[in-house]
Amino acid sequence: MLKIKNLHSGYENLEVLKGIDLIVKDKEIVSLIGPNGAGKSTILKSIFGIANILSGEIHYNNKKIRKSKTHELISHGISYVPQGRIVFGDLTIEENLEFGGRLLRDKKLVRNRIEEIYLKFPILKKRKNKLAYTLSGGERQLLAISRALISKPELLMLDEPSLGLSPKIQKQIFSIIQDLKKEGISILIVEQNAKKAIEISDKTYLLENGSIALEGGKDIIRNKKIKKVYLGE
Ligand SMILES: Nc1ncnc2c1ncn2[C@@H]1O[C@H](COP(=O)(O)OP(=O)(O)OP(=O)(O)O)[C@@H](O)[C@H]1O
Ligand SMILES: [Mg+2]
Repeated sequence: MLKIKNLHSGYENLEVLKGIDLIVKDKEIVSLIGPNGAGKSTILKSIFGIANILSGEIHYNNKKIRKSKTHELISHGISYVPQGRIVFGDLTIEENLEFGGRLLRDKKLVRNRIEEIYLKFPILKKRKNKLAYTLSGGERQLLAISRALISKPELLMLDEPSLGLSPKIQKQIFSIIQDLKKEGISILIVEQNAKKAIEISDKTYLLENGSIALEGGKDIIRNKKIKKVYLGE
């Protein structure tokens, strides 16, 4: 579904990613773990066209998407939830969701999808007319994810969805992510919680200094380096 080949990318003349190869298959959860500054977010930004790609290729469903615009990527079926639970605080919950459907001409369809979200997450329905800044951190993350779901993505990219949330809310977010996979959505997730990321993922990439240091399935959890550095064992 998504195939990245020898990607070099960064910001202006700073090269952050130094030759990344990565694959996300249909209906997989793939996670990116690694230390701060390793370039995890830059991978998502490169796919979404908001980092400076120096060389390499990104294919999505066999199409080259390296030079695609945001609206084209969304209509190809890619959605992106950036780091930091960014929602429009001075818009209502419902207006935030409507924004997620801004590229769809059929407003009735957007309406139906918002209703689907309300069924799935009643807390958003209950507070639909409240301004988004009044939401708790967990609710805001839920809104940010929901907004990205309005375009019915095939591939959802999530950057640190659990960061700064309580263990209980983190658990809920991970369970939502697993449910999305069951609905047939592929997920590429950047996650600080290495243990949890590996547990829910079909494949995990460990990124260090802009390169992939290690990749593997769930058994990567038994890797010595992962255990020592990332699981604190
Ligand atoms: N917009 C930007 N302009 C210039 N440099 C940037 C920009 N965004 C990130 N960087 C730099 O790129 C490098 C990789 O950043 P990136 O955000 O991809 O790391 P990360 O692995 O997501 O880290 P974290 O876990 O802290 O989110 C860092 O050195 C960072 O300072
Ligand atoms: Mg990051």
